[in-house]
Amino acid sequence: MGPEFAASFSIGALGLSNGTVLAPLAGITNLPMRLLAKEGGAGLVCSEMVSANGLVHGSVKTAAMLRSAPAEQPLSIQIFGADPSVIADAARMVAAAGADVLDINFGCSVRKVVKTGAGVDLMRDPRRAEAVLKAVRRAVSIPLTVKMRSGWTASGEQALEIAAIAEACGVDAVAVHPRTAGQGFSGRADWSLIGRIRERVRIPVIGNGDIAAPADAVRMRQETGCAAVMIGRAAIGNPWIFGQIEALWTTGTFREVSLAERRLAMHRYAKATVAEYGETAGCRLLRGRLGWFVRGLRHGSRFREAIKRLEREAEALAVIDDFFASPAASEQAPRD
Ligand SMILES: Cc1cc2nc3c(=O)[nH]c(=O)nc-3n(C[C@H](O)[C@H](O)[C@H](O)COP(=O)(O)O)c2cc1C
Repeated sequence: MGPEFAASFSIGALGLSNGTVLAPLAGITNLPMRLLAKEGGAGLVCSEMVSANGLVHGSVKTAAMLRSAPAEQPLSIQIFGADPSVIADAARMVAAAGADVLDINFGCSVRKVVKTGAGVDLMRDPRRAEAVLKAVRRAVSIPLTVKMRSGWTASGEQALEIAAIAEACGVDAVAVHPRTAGQGFSGRADWSLIGRIRERVRIPVIGNGDIAAPADAVRMRQETGCAAVMIGRAAIGNPWIFGQIEALWTTGTFREVSLAERRLAMHRYAKATVAEYGETAGCRLLRGRLGWFVRGLRHGSRFREAIKRLEREAEALAVIDDFFASPAASEQAPRD
């Protein structure tokens, strides 16, 4: 721990304010979530994975996933696909939409994706992986990253090979979630592979997997020498983790978020969700999402019950205010 971790972090020509990155999370890291992560101190935020096929075939729903706002930038957009020319065309669309970074998904292990040859399937086909990365590199000049798993075996050999291929193809950084395709999210991420990949390539390595609290990010960087850390699940409902990690790196300590800050962030999230999806669809989403922000707080289940039938933005804001105004609020334990 200490100021050495404050050193700036760059992906290609793009300098970032710090080495913390919001992981791409399908169904979660939409614009409202990314805005909060950015306010919380993230150096870089990532979109949900976007289908290259969907973009190229003109899906309106897929195209909407490229929407951004200046306040969240720099933004990384992640695409998934298997066909080099389709991915290259999608990459051009992502660059044209104004993304600061393009990320290619080499990690998704969901059957629906793998059976099309995309996601982690690319890790067992180095030639196709290379064709994809060459095609994308020719197509766009914005900083390019690859997010991968360990591969299909625990040895990590496939990840080492794919990282070297990525570097040779002109990829600017790799993010590594060191679990195998078969592991899904079970077991533990094998951080030692992050360190081995860092030794193999000169491009920055972004470490990912099982950072649950700021101290874990310090430990990951110490143990692996990674240039930056990427946080997924621990950032859901907890966008402050990025600033806390940065504070811990630079000052050796960090501050817990106050209830007042939590309440205001929830307001902003509710408003941004309604602005993005409209009141009806936005409130429907909030019914399942606002609860993320009170996890670990006393009476959280009462709050989740109260938002089950949200219809209006004003109602969402009032329920949030009620929760924090209750006499019990002052004794609410901070999340662990
Ligand atoms: C709900 C959920 C959705 C995810 N969606 C994506 C995705 O779209 N693209 C991707 O590369 N990884 C995705 N991941 C994997 C995460 O980016 C990350 O690699 C993984 O959760 C490990 O990091 P963590 O321990 O900090 O959560 C997803 C994970 C979860 C839990």
